[in-house]
Amino acid sequence: MGHFLYSTDIRINEEKRNLELGGHVGFDSLPDQLVSKSVAQGFCFNILCVGETGIGKSTLMNTLFNTTFENEEASHYEHEVQLRPQTYDLQESNVNLKLTIVHTVGFGDQINKEESYKPILEYIDAQFESYLEEELKIKRSLFNYHDTRIHICLYFIAPNGHSLKSIDLVTMKKLDSKVNIIPVIAKADTVSKSELDKLKIKVMSELVSNGVQIYQFPTENEAVAEINSSMNTHLPFAVVGSIEDVKVGNKMVKARLYPWGSVQVENENHCDFVKLREMLLRVNMEDLREQTHARHYELYRRCKLEEMGFKDTGPDSQSFSLQETYEAKRKEFLVELQRKEEEMRQMFVNKVKETEAELKEKEKELHERFEQLKRMHQEEKKTLEEKRRELEEEMNAFNRRRVAAETLMGQALQGCSQQPFKKDKDKKK
Ligand code: GTP
Ligand code: MG
Repeated sequence: MGHFLYSTDIRINEEKRNLELGGHVGFDSLPDQLVSKSVAQGFCFNILCVGETGIGKSTLMNTLFNTTFENEEASHYEHEVQLRPQTYDLQESNVNLKLTIVHTVGFGDQINKEESYKPILEYIDAQFESYLEEELKIKRSLFNYHDTRIHICLYFIAPNGHSLKSIDLVTMKKLDSKVNIIPVIAKADTVSKSELDKLKIKVMSELVSNGVQIYQFPTENEAVAEINSSMNTHLPFAVVGSIEDVKVGNKMVKARLYPWGSVQVENENHCDFVKLREMLLRVNMEDLREQTHARHYELYRRCKLEEMGFKDTGPDSQSFSLQETYEAKRKEFLVELQRKEEEMRQMFVNKVKETEAELKEKEKELHERFEQLKRMHQEEKKTLEEKRRELEEEMNAFNRRRVAAETLMGQALQGCSQQPFKKDKDKKK
């Protein structure tokens, strides 16, 4: 029976056998199929140039791709750093490249440079976010999706200083987990060779002591291990850009002319421009694209999904499928909803109770007031009654006195009218 139980991976691996093919079957063309498919599809590459205004970003891009991109000079009066992406379709032999160059406009021009890195970080995240959104769509079209994720950040260091400025360190530190960074010392023709060597050493030691992770040319692949490991020791590249063609000997070369001579861009004794172009475009372009997807985007995606509550393992460290995560999240949401509902209900009941108690209190107050008014009214009524009685008594007394007075008066009058008669009688006597 045990022979038929080969459902575990281990057993399947055990049963793998090497077989010889009897003849050519054709799957050895798989790499060629991949190449032709990729060529037909075309490639995209996105470069972010970070460096202060006028440091030579546009000139270096023109020199790198041996063409003239539309360049607008930036003013020194931008209120904040802005990111300006421009996309171009380029072709070399039969390979199509959709190239996006993103410039940081106004970088380093503000008085307060503390926030200068933020718009750059937000731009990089926004590109990751739109890729993630595409990935999470039900109907995805990643095949013809215009990938705008930044594959390389060329960080332009000013040549005329003793070392890095704090804005350089802060920006590179903030960006190093988001993007591949290659630092370059710009306008390297403006400082002497010994100064440049000193500056290179200083820059590298400052990057190391501040824990800034710059892009290391990969050394795993044997074909490029040697050149890459040697180039890793030349960082940061000291570059010179120029789109001016100058005749040197009997050849036209890109150079910058000075009264005392010329600086040839592609002369390795003059600057590291060729090293940068080789490393960036000819040797490691694919690795930069891959690192962006496998390292930086992966990190963004992981953090984002975890933030949204997705997990690979459940509470009991068992693997957790998307469906289970969804169910768990839904349950969690329903429990939360119920809790909120209960909370609201309780709040409502409490409010009603409070209002009821307030109303009762008011009613009691009103009742007391009413009783008080009633008492006052009764007292007033009693006093008025008393007053009335007093008045009535006074009136009665007055009436009595009046009647008495009238009687008296009547008697008096009577007395008067009988008096003459008596006199007459007396007279007659
Ligand atoms: P904004 O886009 O305005 O921020 O400038 P930018 O960084 O794109 O600089 P740009 O390439 O426009 O160059 C600015 C000035 O520096 C121009 O006058 C260039 O000719 C000069 N420049 C560019 N590269 C170099 C270089 O390698 N060495 C020297 N000495 N000057 C350079
Ligand atoms: Mg420019």
